[in-house]
Amino acid sequence: MDKRSLVTIAEHSREKLMYLIEMASEFEKHPNRRLLQGKIAATLFFEPSTRTRLSFETAANRLGARVIGFADPKVTSGTKGEILKDTIMMVSNYADIIIMRHYLEGAAKYASEVTDVPILNAGDGANQHPSQTMLDLYTIYQTQGTLENLNIYLVGDLKYGRTVHSLLMAMRHFNPTFHFIAPDELAMPQIYKDYCDEHGIKYFEHQDFNADTIADADILYMTRVQKERFSDLMEYERVKDAYLLKRDMLVKARDNMKILHPLPRVNEIEYSIDDTKYAYYFQQAKNGVYARQALICDALGITLEDVRNDKTIID
Ligand code: CP
Repeated sequence: MDKRSLVTIAEHSREKLMYLIEMASEFEKHPNRRLLQGKIAATLFFEPSTRTRLSFETAANRLGARVIGFADPKVTSGTKGEILKDTIMMVSNYADIIIMRHYLEGAAKYASEVTDVPILNAGDGANQHPSQTMLDLYTIYQTQGTLENLNIYLVGDLKYGRTVHSLLMAMRHFNPTFHFIAPDELAMPQIYKDYCDEHGIKYFEHQDFNADTIADADILYMTRVQKERFSDLMEYERVKDAYLLKRDMLVKARDNMKILHPLPRVNEIEYSIDDTKYAYYFQQAKNGVYARQALICDALGITLEDVRNDKTIID
C-alpha cells in the first residue's frame, strides 16, 4: 500500500513541491469543498500548538472530514503508561489519517513505520516541521513570484528551530543563498551546514543583525528562541533576547522583501512592524490552511486533477 506519510520535506522532489503549491493555490481560491466527506482525521498533539493544530483541523473541516484527537497528552492513556506504538495502532483503528506533533525527534518516522494509516508530521522535537515548510514555500512563492535564486535570511534560534531545518532542505531545489544570523549558542547545526555543502547550497554566517546585514534580503525569516528545548534555563536566559527586529532596521530593505515568522513571536519582531509592507507573518499563518489542505488530500490519494475537477465546492 502507498502510505503517503509525510515525515520530512526532504523526501519531496522539486516537481512534487511545485505540484503541492499549485494544489494549495486551488484551495486558496475555493477552500470549502466536500472532497473528504466520510473521512476522519486524527490530530494527536503531544506538544502545545495554536496554528499547526487549528489550521490542520480547519483544513480537514473545510474539506468535509471530521476531526478527532487531543491537544494535550495529559488527557490520554499515555499518562497511564501507554506507549506511542500502542496509541498509534489504536488511533489507526479510528481514523483515515493521523496528524501528529511529538516532542521526540524521529517520532513521526517511528509512527509511520507501525501503521498503514498516513502520518503527517506536525513537528518532531527540534528535527523537522514539513507542513510548516509547505506553507512557507507557498508564501515565498506568493510574495516573490518564484522560489528561484532568492536571498533568504534565517534569524534567531537556528539550533532548535525545526522550521528552519525543514525550509533549508526544501530550498535545495531552488538555488537559494542562505544567511544564518544567530549567536554561537544557537548557530545552525553542523549537520545542516554539511547538508548545504552536499547539495551545493550557498550560505554565510553572521552574528551582526542590523540594517546593513539584511539589506539584500528577499525573505527575512525570524524565529523564536525555543525555550522548551533548553536543558539549562540559565543558557536560555542568556540568549532569549538575542535578536529583535526593529522598525528602523528596515530603512535599507528591498521593496520586495517580506518578513516571515512561523510564530508564535515572543520578542523577535517589534509590534510597530506589523503595519509595514514588509510584515507578512499573519498571511503566512493563514496560508497554513491551504497548504495543509493540499497535504491532507495528497496523503489520501486525491490528486491536483481531482481538485481541479471537483464539483463539491461550496462558496
Ligand atoms: N508555527 C507553529 O508551529 O506554530 P504552533 O506551535 O502554534 O503550531
